[in-house]
Amino acid sequence: MTRILFVCLGNICRSPAAEAVLRQKALARGAALEIASAGTGGWHQGDGADARMIVAAARRGYSLDAHRARQVLFSDFYEFDYLLAMDMRNRADLLDMAPPDRDCDIRLFLDFAGGATRETPDPYYGGPEGFERVLDLLEAGAEGFLSHLAGDAPAR
Ligand code: 4NP
Repeated sequence: MTRILFVCLGNICRSPAAEAVLRQKALARGAALEIASAGTGGWHQGDGADARMIVAAARRGYSLDAHRARQVLFSDFYEFDYLLAMDMRNRADLLDMAPPDRDCDIRLFLDFAGGATRETPDPYYGGPEGFERVLDLLEAGAEGFLSHLAGDAPAR
């Protein structure tokens, strides 16, 4: 089974939403995946997802109710096949932390979407439209990533 860890900064907005979107789309395609998420920062450890993201995701049928934030662990670099970063900073932080014998691919999630947008922008300090934009990007990313896993779409 392919194991996927989504990574953002706080693990309360983007990566929990990515986790929920991919889980639902994988289920619809019958793809067996283990999916989790974490943050490079630990300020929100143990918190639920951001209330604004819970509401925006629920409107599209994704539940973030059970989410609890956690920070990236050293063991994640061995226990997951893909560490999928939301933005360049998340990816750079992961590459800085990564042990030399890591056993995972560290990638920008949206590079699987096939579009020009490579980063999922942080919606935390913005308005409600930012959360919708994140969900639009994550849905495209999830479709592209599942096609990549199925072997029918090249990734950047
Ligand atoms: P996330 O959003 O990385 O998508 O979960 C953020 C959440 C919290 C903070 C920054 C970004 N923060 O600074 O607390």
